[in-house]
Amino acid sequence: MVALIDSPRNLHAQGRLTLQTAEIAAETTAFRCLDWDRDRFDIEFDLKNGTTYNSFLIRGDKTALIDTTHAKFREQYLAYATENINPFELDYLIVNHTEPDHSGLIKEILAWAPHVVVVGSKVAIQFLENMIHQPFETMVVKSGHELDLGQGHKLSFVSAPNLHWPDTIFTYDAGTRVLYTCDVFGMHYCDDFLFDETPHLLEADFRYYYDCLMGPNARSVLMALKRIDNFEVDLVATGHGPLLRYHRQSWMEKYRQWSQNQVQTETFVALFYVEEYGYSDRIVKAIAEGISKTGVAVELVDMSVADSHEVRELAHSAAGIVVGMPPQLDQNAAMHPALSTLLTSVNSKQSMGLFETGGGHDEPIYPVRNRLQAIGLKEVFPPIAIKDTPSQSTDQLCYEAGIDLGQWLTRDKSVQQSKQIDAHLDRALGRISNGLYIVTAKKGDLSSAMIASWVMQASLEPLGVAISVAKDRAIEMLLHGGDRFVLNVLEEANYQPLMKHFLKRFPPGADRFAGIDTYPANNGSPILAKALAYIECEVSNRYECSDHMIVYATVKTGRVAKRDGLTAVHHRKASNHY
Ligand SMILES: Cc1cc2nc3c(=O)[nH]c(=O)nc-3n(C[C@H](O)[C@H](O)[C@H](O)COP(=O)(O)O)c2cc1C
Repeated sequence: MVALIDSPRNLHAQGRLTLQTAEIAAETTAFRCLDWDRDRFDIEFDLKNGTTYNSFLIRGDKTALIDTTHAKFREQYLAYATENINPFELDYLIVNHTEPDHSGLIKEILAWAPHVVVVGSKVAIQFLENMIHQPFETMVVKSGHELDLGQGHKLSFVSAPNLHWPDTIFTYDAGTRVLYTCDVFGMHYCDDFLFDETPHLLEADFRYYYDCLMGPNARSVLMALKRIDNFEVDLVATGHGPLLRYHRQSWMEKYRQWSQNQVQTETFVALFYVEEYGYSDRIVKAIAEGISKTGVAVELVDMSVADSHEVRELAHSAAGIVVGMPPQLDQNAAMHPALSTLLTSVNSKQSMGLFETGGGHDEPIYPVRNRLQAIGLKEVFPPIAIKDTPSQSTDQLCYEAGIDLGQWLTRDKSVQQSKQIDAHLDRALGRISNGLYIVTAKKGDLSSAMIASWVMQASLEPLGVAISVAKDRAIEMLLHGGDRFVLNVLEEANYQPLMKHFLKRFPPGADRFAGIDTYPANNGSPILAKALAYIECEVSNRYECSDHMIVYATVKTGRVAKRDGLTAVHHRKASNHY
């Protein structure tokens, strides 16, 4: 009934999308969907060598399909599957990760084999339920769980959260010593070669893929590697690119090395929350985005699925801790287990911030806050309590709280860096002078402002200005392509009160215009009534300049309040501040 193909071969060619199938171990088939011409992955990920989406079939007494493929392979993949697999004999669909390039045909598989049990992490099953909108049998697995398919195919599962997505698991078949890792150890590389016999051709893509997808979560990579240390692995069956057989140890060792190098130098904040509880997911992501703007790394930890070892390790080694209060398990029961582990793992050198989102059923915030403060953690932003549906203003508040935490953690580094500049150069650069301006922006319910002096006219046709904005400025989120703002020019005779006001340290989410006279420009942003002149601008380009973004904007209209007024000029003495 099943026609397995002995050697790799392209089947069902359809333009530059081809399907390769091959037997890779006893009773185990790989279906590799070869996407020869794909040149982009996610938004910013340039591909040079296309990619593949790999799916696998194991036939013991029970049969399991591991991952599916991208929906663009619907016709070829399903034609092959329906020809070669009896749907009544397909028992399990193991989902190592739910991104659409691997889960694109799950709905079709469920329609074809409705009794199939979908196996995945708790988060993966939740993602799928939201994606598929139809009932299906599920089996939630995490590290330590096993599934015996018979004929020696004893599967073990390993949780690998944050290895690109929070839902990731690995599946290990002890019978064939194949480790199925989906995205992890993958590379975007499309070729007829099934295995990794040509490492020199693959290395650059392997590294690029690691840097883009895995490097940002180097700590989670190390934790996942630790969990698979005891497995004897003959083949790493990844979800993208060739399968790693000949040089598998060296590829895995590279992940270890790169991740170790990264975590040694990196300051990071661990954010503990419960993915599916209240609005935690949205809040934690906004805080994490703010932290990232300051160059500090983030590790998101879902307390409902993380094991205690992971919670302990991250809570112990992070420079900062953010806790989104988890739901109370039972009014009378002890504290949420992950929270108790966290409280015994933190130390007085760390900083922290707390939030609650559940609307009354959370672990109470103040006893936890008191305990953290008693241990000596420094609270960087006041507890954030979200009771209603979050709005854009909530996102802004959380984003700004994240920026405050990141800036607090990097304060010494900034001072050290500025001390390293050669004194002569520092003074010479300091002689570059500019005017003084306040940039103001309003978008929907959000508004913000910042003092700027790194401002210049940048083009004549069309008329345009450029402003250098530090990546961790609160207003940065309102200065993306197409956003509008006002450049308020300050006057030599009266700039001081405005400068004093806008230099205040505003708490997260504060209204920066309270007590300031403004009126709306045509583009909706506030014009400062006491400015010498204003110019209405629209962002057309942004250029990355390490710690700043140069925001280039075309200018639409402008007015001067006093014809004979002089622009305030900012003379400075050193290059290490504005
Ligand atoms: C004289 C002066 C000029 C400044 N110019 C700039 C600038 O051009 N770009 C910038 O990103 N920040 C500049 N800053 C820094 C900030 O605007 C300022 O520290 C900010 O108000 C802090 O706000 P935040 O909470 O939005 O980060 C300047 C600060 C001063 C005192």
